[in-house]
Amino acid sequence: MSYVVITGASAGIGERFARALAAEKQNLILVARREERLNTLATELKQQHGIEAIVLKADLANEAGAEALARQINDVGWVLSGLINNAGFGDRGAFADLGLERQLSMIQVNITSLVSLTWQLLPSLRKQPGSFVINVASTAAFQAGPNMAIYYATKAFVLSFSEALHEELRGAGVSVSTLCPGATDSEFATEAHMTNTKLFKAGTMTAEAVVKKSLAQRRKAIVIPGLRNLLMVWSGKLSPRAVTRRLAGWLQA
Ligand SMILES: NC(=O)c1ccc[n+]([C@@H]2O[C@H](COP(=O)([O-])OP(=O)(O)OC[C@H]3O[C@@H](n4cnc5c(N)ncnc54)[C@H](OP(=O)(O)O)[C@@H]3O)[C@@H](O)[C@H]2O)c1
Repeated sequence: MSYVVITGASAGIGERFARALAAEKQNLILVARREERLNTLATELKQQHGIEAIVLKADLANEAGAEALARQINDVGWVLSGLINNAGFGDRGAFADLGLERQLSMIQVNITSLVSLTWQLLPSLRKQPGSFVINVASTAAFQAGPNMAIYYATKAFVLSFSEALHEELRGAGVSVSTLCPGATDSEFATEAHMTNTKLFKAGTMTAEAVVKKSLAQRRKAIVIPGLRNLLMVWSGKLSPRAVTRRLAGWLQA
C-alpha cells in the first residue's frame, strides 16, 4: 500500500489534488496547518473512495516544520508513490513596504520547506517504481514581478530547481513535474491581497481544471494549464525582459 503526500491540502489546488487522486483510489497523506479541514476532507474521501487518508498537521513556515514532517513519515515507514509540494502563498506590495518576517516566511514555505521535503522523501520515492513529484510553481516563474518581487522570485526558484531535478532523476524511476498555473480560483488571491488586480479580474481557471491538466501530464517537465496562460508564457519568451517585468507589474498594480 503506497501513499501520495500533498502539502497545502486544506484548500484550493491542494484540496483538488486530494479529491482527484482519491478518485484514482490513491491513498493520501494530507498536510497543512488547518487540521480540522484536513480531518473533514479525509473522512469524506475515505467514505467516498474507500482509500486511506492520513492527516499530518505541519507549519511549513516554521524552520523545523518540513524536517519534523519528513521524519514522521520516514519513521512510520509509509511507502510513498508521490509527493505534491503545493503549499505556498504570496503577498502583493512593494518589497520595502511588506514586512520582512512575512517575506522570509514566504521563502521558507515556497522554497526551503519544498527543498527540504523533497530531499528527505526522495529515498522513499526512489524505492517505489513509477513514483512522481509535482512541484507547484506559477506562471510567475517566467519573469520578474514588481509589487510581488519575492513571490515571483520564489516561483522562479521552484521552476529552475524542479526542471533540473527532472533531468537528474530521469531513469531513476521518479518523474518530476513543475506545475505552473496562472490566476486560479482558490483562497490564494485573498491571502495575497490580489482580488482587485487586473490579473485576477481578467478571469481565473478553476482549481479542478488546473489539477486535471497536471495529473494528466504528471510526468512532463513543465505543465502550464490553460491556453491563455500558455500564450502569455510563450509570448513572454519572445519579448525583452524589460517588457515582461513591466507588464507583470501593471497586471498586479
Ligand atoms: N491560485 C493562484 O492563482 C495560483 C497561481 C499560481 C500558483 N499558485 C500556487 O498554487 C499553490 C496552492 O495555492 P492555492 O491557489 O491553492 O492557494 P490556497 O487556496 O490559499 O491554498 C494554499 C494552501 O497552502 C497551505 N499553506 C500555506 N501556508 C502554509 C504553511 N505555513 N504551512 C503549511 N501549509 C501552508 C494552506 O494550508 P493552511 O492555511 O491550512 O496551512 C493551503 O492548504 C501555491 O504554491 C501557490 O503559490 C496559485
